[in-house]
Order: sequence, then C-alpha cells, then structure tokens
Amino acid sequence: MSGEQDPKQISGTYAANLVEDRMAVGLGTGSTARFAILRLGERVKEGLNIIAIPTSEASAKLATELGIKLVGFNDVTHLDITIDGADEIDPDFNMLKGGGGALLREKIVASLTKRQICIVDPNKAVEKLGKFPLPVEVVKFGWEVVARRIEEIGGKYKVRQRDGENYVTDNGNFILDCDFYPIENPPELEKAIKMLPGVVEVGLFINMAHTLIMGHPSGECTVRERA
Ligand code: A5P
Repeated sequence: MSGEQDPKQISGTYAANLVEDRMAVGLGTGSTARFAILRLGERVKEGLNIIAIPTSEASAKLATELGIKLVGFNDVTHLDITIDGADEIDPDFNMLKGGGGALLREKIVASLTKRQICIVDPNKAVEKLGKFPLPVEVVKFGWEVVARRIEEIGGKYKVRQRDGENYVTDNGNFILDCDFYPIENPPELEKAIKMLPGVVEVGLFINMAHTLIMGHPSGECTVRERA
C-alpha cells in the first residue's frame, strides 16, 4: 500500500537515534540491525563519537565501510547500548535469535550490555517462542551426537544448509535449526540444550532485552521497557 514504510527501518533508525556521544555500542546482525548501523554511520559522519563491537563479520564490514570505529574486548568492559534484532520475542521479553547465524557473538555482546535494545517489526511479537526454528550452534565434531540428544529431549532438527552445503558460522561451527514449538519454559530449555556436549550456544536470550522497539508501517514506533 502506498505510503507504508518499512517497520524494520523505522525501528532501526529510532534505536540508532538513542545512541549518545562517547557510548560503546554493540552492533547487531540481520536486516533490521542493518538499518540501525546505516543510521549510526550517518550520525558518525555528522560528528557522533562512538566505539562499537560488531556481532558478525557482515556487520563489521558494513560498520567499517561507514566509518564506525570498531574496538575489541580488551578496549571495553561493557557496552552502553546494543541494538539488535530478533526472530521472535515473547511478552516477557525472552527472545529467539540466530536466524542470521550470529547467535554466539550476539549473546556474548548482549552479556556485556547495559541496555539491550531489541528492534523488530510487528511479526516478531509472539505469545510463545518456537514457531521460528530455534538455532543451536554446534561444533562440527560429533554434531550428530548433539542432534540425537536434541531428539531425545523432544525436538526435531534440520542441519542448516547454504548452497547445498552445511552452513558454517563465523566461528566455524554448524547450526541445527530445531523445532520445539511451543516452548513452554524458555529458561529451562536453554539450560537443557546448553548442557549437551558439543553445543556452543542456543538462540534463546533470557532476561537480556531491556527495551523493545517495534516499528510499524505507519512510520510510528512502539517503545516498551522490560518490567
Ligand atoms: C542474527 O543471527 C539474528 O539473531 C537476527 O538478529 C535475527 O535473525 C533477526 O534478523 P532480521 O532482522 O533479519 O529479521
């Protein structure tokens, strides 16, 4: 419909405008986070002074092209803000992430973040997580063992593919996309999966999001803080 705007761009731009001078910023991954990085790039050109840590090689490349100063974990003890998308978010602000394969770096960065801003379009808000397949990052060695354990605890899995081959993350691992829908107890499932030898990370982000920014096609944003 004419006049409609892209909710991903609306939320990403809104979040990027919250960043203040001299902040350390986590840069998310995915099509929504891309809009936030693009806006931050504009603001840096206008004089905004920030340092940033990216959550993927793709976001690092984009940020570098835009002139955003990237640093390493020796340079910061925490991040003031991280702006990242999600594949799903529930009413308790539990997120399911990793559709773009960056869940491990995203979770490390989120764990250092004072204010994690989740930017989404309205389709990402769900009552129960898990319709979007849950990404589980596994080391290549013995991934089949993890896959069997996933089935034993009630999930179905598919090994993520790209161009006819197993998809490989920025960290050199595979991803099992798992069906546990409906996920009745996200913290419990996160722990159960993380206990399996060979699992590097699981795309359940519990108690990590502080702020939810939802863009709408009207151009408006809904902003909510976690209770
Ligand atoms: C990347 O691994 C993911 O966690 C993304 O944040 C998530 O998949 C959302 O991506 P989009 O913004 O492209 O929908």
